[in-house]
Formats: sequence, structure tokens, C-alpha cells
Amino acid sequence: MYRSHTCGELTAAHINTEVTLAGWVQGVRDKGFMIYIDLRDRYGITQLYFDEEHSAKDLMKKAQKLGREFVVQITGKVIERASKNPNISTGAIEVLVSELNILNTALLPPFTIEDKTDGGDDLRMKYRYLDIRRNPVKDNLIFRHNVTQSVRNYLSNNGFIEVETPYLIKSTPEGARDFVVPSRMNEGQFYALPQSPQTFKQLLMVGGMDKYFQIVRCFRDEDLRADRQPEFTQIDCEMAFVEQEDVLDTFEGLTRHLLKEINGVDLDSFPRITYDDAMRLYGNDKPDIRFGMQFGELNNVTQHKDFNVFNSAELVVGIAVPGGNTYTRKDIDKLIDWVKRPQVGAQGMVYCRCNDDGTFKSSVDKFYDQDDLSKWADITGAKSGDLICVLSGEVNKVRSQLSALRMELAERLGLRKPNEFAPLWVVDFPLLEWDEETERYHAMHHPFTSPKPGQLELLDTKPGEVKANAYDLVLNGNEIGGGSIRIHDKATQAIMLKHLGFSDDEARAQFGFLMDAFEYGAPPHGGIAFGLDRLVSILGGQETIRDFIAFPKNNSGRDVMINAPAPIDDEQLEELSLKLNLKS
Ligand code: AMO
Repeated sequence: MYRSHTCGELTAAHINTEVTLAGWVQGVRDKGFMIYIDLRDRYGITQLYFDEEHSAKDLMKKAQKLGREFVVQITGKVIERASKNPNISTGAIEVLVSELNILNTALLPPFTIEDKTDGGDDLRMKYRYLDIRRNPVKDNLIFRHNVTQSVRNYLSNNGFIEVETPYLIKSTPEGARDFVVPSRMNEGQFYALPQSPQTFKQLLMVGGMDKYFQIVRCFRDEDLRADRQPEFTQIDCEMAFVEQEDVLDTFEGLTRHLLKEINGVDLDSFPRITYDDAMRLYGNDKPDIRFGMQFGELNNVTQHKDFNVFNSAELVVGIAVPGGNTYTRKDIDKLIDWVKRPQVGAQGMVYCRCNDDGTFKSSVDKFYDQDDLSKWADITGAKSGDLICVLSGEVNKVRSQLSALRMELAERLGLRKPNEFAPLWVVDFPLLEWDEETERYHAMHHPFTSPKPGQLELLDTKPGEVKANAYDLVLNGNEIGGGSIRIHDKATQAIMLKHLGFSDDEARAQFGFLMDAFEYGAPPHGGIAFGLDRLVSILGGQETIRDFIAFPKNNSGRDVMINAPAPIDDEQLEELSLKLNLKS
């Protein structure tokens, strides 16, 4: 038996008990005649005690030689501590050691393994297994486990069946690039790793599974950000014989369940907003509604004067910054510099102070009188003491710029409170999205999403205006899930693929299996996938998903611990029929 107890469980109730513990040496305090050792395992830290009076000489010597992170097993008696530590659960006791067994030695760790560490990101990633010994990382992994467990329970209790789908598949177009895997047995051919199990879960509906879920790894070769990893996990779900309302209800239920069970929060409202309104009011399809600062469109009250910048703009739009009138001229200049940064890209910013006495002072007083400015305040909802920030330009650009400013200011004002939760369904997404680069329409969600009833005809005339039965779940300004009601008949799917630029042959080659399945009694169906990593990190009050993944990739998609990706040797290349291809 390696241990009778863990390092986190001994309390005053165990005094005089003989125990055996095993763990890592967190630190040794050697006072010559007394030695204290902190012994750590997953459950906590227990103080070990040795002294000249009670411990044999060779035992003292052995203890003195212990280094940080040595793995040891000890036996001893639980005694009351002279100076108690109220900050840890084992702080009332220590163990007077009678036997010490060194299970393994350890090199000096490259950073301190404590809550606050001196290790930088790169170093901690290279030695991630040491980082995982630290409470913040360990606790996040346990937190993730709890969320996953809770999701499984909820879905299983609601009749969902967990089914595994293959990882070696054919590319499915979800908007990102595929990771591909060469096939040794099929020369010159490649599998793709799934960007999601989308087509398989639809086939499971054709197979009559009715309610499916899977906690599943997905792979996307896309540019990485704090909320994106090349491999990430989805809670992927699909249901047959459902309408949008059924799906929203079910997954509102899951979200409520998680917030209650994990965070102890009862969500009272679960609002919905259309995509168009989200863009108009927040400039963003994943608005953070923990705070207001809604956009006010000012074209009507700005475009009748001689201010050319506004007159020539497609959209003039402002937000009220609560209490922003306290900003000095210098503060505002800095804000203007901030919106002009290339990452935001605004040309400039007009502002208007809302003074306590009800008067206004704007940076464009030459063009607008008090009456005009009071209309700006009405439309943006600005009150005395606020600052109105106004941007102008081309609709899409200016919305995204003002949205960035809104989020930045909210962050600075402390309005994005991590322990406050504001979910939001964004519904009625456009079916198609214009892509400037390729100069054609792409499916905004994916090609299997159905258009709203009666809108199929619009595809020929006004493709950009067709709305889809598609929805996203947003939590605190993050898209944590997305889904849709699917097309379930061959004819509609064929029309959709045609509009996405697939020839009949291409459609058949890529999606023949799905179209065929639609001819064998496909039920109406729909579903959603949550980003588990994002969900977990937001429930955990953070936004960097890497902190909740045991072995994440860095921003260049590298695993710096195992040093992947890496070249493979010639022999392997040859076997995969890749060698010639690479050279030619
Ligand atoms: P979608 O592409 O919207 O939908 O993905 C679903 C959710 O997965 C999360 N997500 C990511 N998380 C981390 N890193 C990434 N690179 C990443 N990409 C996406 C997001 C997102 O909301 N098959 C459809 C779902 C469906 O229609 O049912 C799909 O994959 O939180």
C-alpha cells in the first residue's frame, strides 16, 4: 500500500493516527535540529516534521538530502501543529515522520511549482507536466472534468445517446482548412480529420438515433487566438423531428443546468436577438449583454450640416460611455489613438461631453448646436456625466470598429464581470455570406443549414438576404455554440450546393453519400455544437481556453513539449507515397 491517506485529508480528528502518505516534496525548511517538509499531491499539502528528539539520526540525514519534487513515501504519526495555518485544510496538524522512503529523485524544476510561479508561458508549456502540478492548472482540469460530467449527465438523462464518429474521414467544408492524413494503403489519397462530425450526426438521424451527442475532438487548420485551438472539443448534438424552438429549449435547459450545478447561478432570463438587431445594436453577432452601451445610429441627426466626414459616411453611429465625461482631453486623445490602431482601423473619432448642467461640448461644435447634440444623447441613451463616442464610415467596418471600442471601454470600466452570466440566443442568421477574397457567397454556417421557410426562391434574386434556420448561443460576448435546422431533402440540398458554386459532379463527389441518404427516408432534424473549451473557460471566469486544456498548442500551432509538428524520415515519406510528390 503506497498510502493510507492523501495529502489533503488529515485534520485534527486524525491526531495520534499512524498514517502513510506519498507525494512530491514542495519544499524543505531545514533548521538544523528541526526539519519541516511540505508534501504535496493532487489533494493538498501536508507538513512533515522531523526533529533531533524524536527522529533517528540517519532519518534526519535522509530528510536533509531531499530536493524539490522528489517523490517520497512516509509513515508517521499525526500530531498537533504548534503554529497552525488556517489557510489550508491540513493546517492544524503535521506528521511526525518515522519512516522515509524515496520513491524517485527529481532534477531541479525549471520554475517554481507554486500558485504564483516564476515560469514564463513558453517554459511552462515545455514542461507542462510540471505546470499541471500547480493548483491553478490542476484546478482548471478538475473544473473541466466537472463540467463534462455534468453535460453527460444532463444529456443522458434527457434521452441523448453518445455515439462515436470516425476521425479519419473525408474533408467536410466548415469554413476552415482541413488537417489531412496520408493513407499508406491507398497511394496518393488522404483522409481529413473532421472539423466537426456534422455529416455523420446527420447520418445518425437518418439511421434513426433520434437524439445524439458526442463530446468530440474537432480539428481546424485556422489562425489561432485566445479562444481558438487547432484541436478543440465540441459537445456535438443532433435531434430528429424537431423545429428550431425544440432545439433552443433543450439547450437553454442544458445551459441553465450547467450554470446552476457548476456556478450556483439561477439564470432568470434567456433573451433572443436577431442577427440583424445584434449587428445594429452591438455591431457584432456575439454581443456581450452584461452591460448596455447599445449603438445609436445618428445618420438622421448628423447628415444635414456641413460636416463632410459624416455626410459622406454610410453610417454614423455612437455609444454613450457611462461616466466618460470625467476623461481628460489626454484620455480622449489616447482613446482616439486606440481606435486608429491598425487592429481597429477607424479613421478618427468624434466625441461629445454630456456635462452635469445639461449642456454639451463636442469636438465638432463648429457644425452642431446644443439642440443637435441633445438628439445624439437621446439616441445613444447618454446621460449627464457621460461621453458620447461617434465613429463613421462604411457600415460593416464602422460597426466592427465601434464594437471593438465598446468592448475595450467596458473592460476598462470593469463592466465585464467574470462571475456574472448573460446568455443570449442570436437567431435568424443570413444563410450566405459574401466573401471579399474569393468574390462569391459562402455558407455562413455550413452548407447543410436550411433556409427559413419560403425563402429558397430568394436565393436566385437576393442571395444575401436569405435568412437561415441558424442560431448561435452567446455567453458573455463569446460564441459558445452554434447550430441549425438542416436541409433533409436531396432537391433542396442540391440547390444549396449549386448556389455555393459546386457543379453537379463536384456536389456528387463531395456529398453524394449524404444526398443518397436523404433519399432513404431522412427525418427532419437539427442540432447544435457547443465549444466545450470555451464553455468551460467562461464558466471558470476566464477567456483563454488554453488554460483549460491539459496539453494545448501554442499560437503557431506547435506542441512545444513533444516538439510537434516535426519532419518524418525518408522511409516513412516513401511508404506514404509522399516523397516523390514533395520533390516534384
Ligand atoms: P461551429 O463551427 O459554429 O459549428 O462550431 C461550434 C462551436 O465550436 C467552437 N469552436 C472552437 N473552439 C475552439 N477552437 C476552435 N478553433 C473552434 N472553432 C469552433 C465554438 C463554436 O460555437 N457542425 C457545426 C455545429 C452544428 O451545426 O450543429 C459546427 O461545428 O464555440
